[in-house]
Amino acid sequence: MAKAAIMGYGTVGSGVYEIIKTNADKLTKNTGGEAIDVKYILDIRDFPDHPEPNLFTKDFNDILNDGEVTVAAEVMGGLHPAYEFTKALLEAGKSVVTSNKELVATYGTELLEIAREKNVNYFFEASVGGGIPIIRPMHQCLTANNIKRIAGILNGTTNYILDQMIRRGKTFDAALKDAQAKGFAERNPAADVEGHDACRKIAILASLASGLAVDYSDIDTEGITNITLDDVKYAAQMNSVIKLIGYAEFREDGKIYSIVSPMIINSENPLSGVDGVMNAITVTGDCVGDVMFYGAGAGKLPTASAVVADVVDAVKHAERSKKIMWQKPDGNIMADGDSKKFAWFVRTTDSAENVSKIFGRCEFVDNITEGESAFVTEPLTRSDAESKTGALRDVITSIKILG
Ligand code: HSE
Repeated sequence: MAKAAIMGYGTVGSGVYEIIKTNADKLTKNTGGEAIDVKYILDIRDFPDHPEPNLFTKDFNDILNDGEVTVAAEVMGGLHPAYEFTKALLEAGKSVVTSNKELVATYGTELLEIAREKNVNYFFEASVGGGIPIIRPMHQCLTANNIKRIAGILNGTTNYILDQMIRRGKTFDAALKDAQAKGFAERNPAADVEGHDACRKIAILASLASGLAVDYSDIDTEGITNITLDDVKYAAQMNSVIKLIGYAEFREDGKIYSIVSPMIINSENPLSGVDGVMNAITVTGDCVGDVMFYGAGAGKLPTASAVVADVVDAVKHAERSKKIMWQKPDGNIMADGDSKKFAWFVRTTDSAENVSKIFGRCEFVDNITEGESAFVTEPLTRSDAESKTGALRDVITSIKILG
């Protein structure tokens, strides 16, 4: 019997416990006959009404020093003390699985190296895309490919908010409250709506794809807090939707261009049909072409299902490190932020005549708000877009269009 610990009993942690209990027989079959037994649950809070209150501890050392525990699910979130706990467990020869994208994106290189040295595993399937299988497919099934591009809806909360705005005409604030109530949002929802959560996830995917640690602080990141109902209506008029996109492009010269930004997506792109809390990731490989991964990107049981799958894999590979790795790069691997052109959708109170003078060729969109010009530019670099929009009398909105 494999003894496991759950660290953090929030939305995901309680889901991990529930799945281990409910699907116990199935999990035993899938480990190859070894049952998984939760020996500890670590949380600073009390859960007196829990069916197994004896499992709870507030002392991490109970887990660290228990030689029977071979795997821990770190679902506490945040960097500290999750980093210290994970490092100590790996160094003690225990495998750790996690949904903590902040930790993987920040300390993944070091933690994966320790896991390799200690011949244990550090798995993080749930850190990107919630319940969607994406880490293993990237690491294993697509391993024959040079990855060319990744474009994904990587944050369930913002997708839920945008969807509620698009389909139900809800305000941003009302939709955010709803997402929080449903348990999708981070403890601090700024990480969702300002794009930081998606940024960490695309950094993890870009690191996996390239084999080099992509520092998330190098990724130009913009959230959805400036998107208005009018923007959403304009997009609909253009047969498009607005989505928060995590994007990474792997260039021939070895550089990586990556950005997180709201983007307008035409209805012909399958990402446009990804609604609610769902996530989807399109990966383009040089051999396979485009593949798309779709599913529940947040929420208790979908995320816990990925965590428990990692627990099963860790139990199955108790004696062998699977060597998921990326290396610290020598020097800068990020492409210049100005090396990529996007077409932009712009709204201004300036006249159509001025717009044409400044932008030259552009396509005007029927305005839905009195007294403004709305138009789509030719593909422009960021600095060109900034200098041209800077020459307008004002800018109500400027949003990139995903090509
Ligand atoms: N807050 C995250 C989201 C949870 O909304 O996608 C899953 O990572």
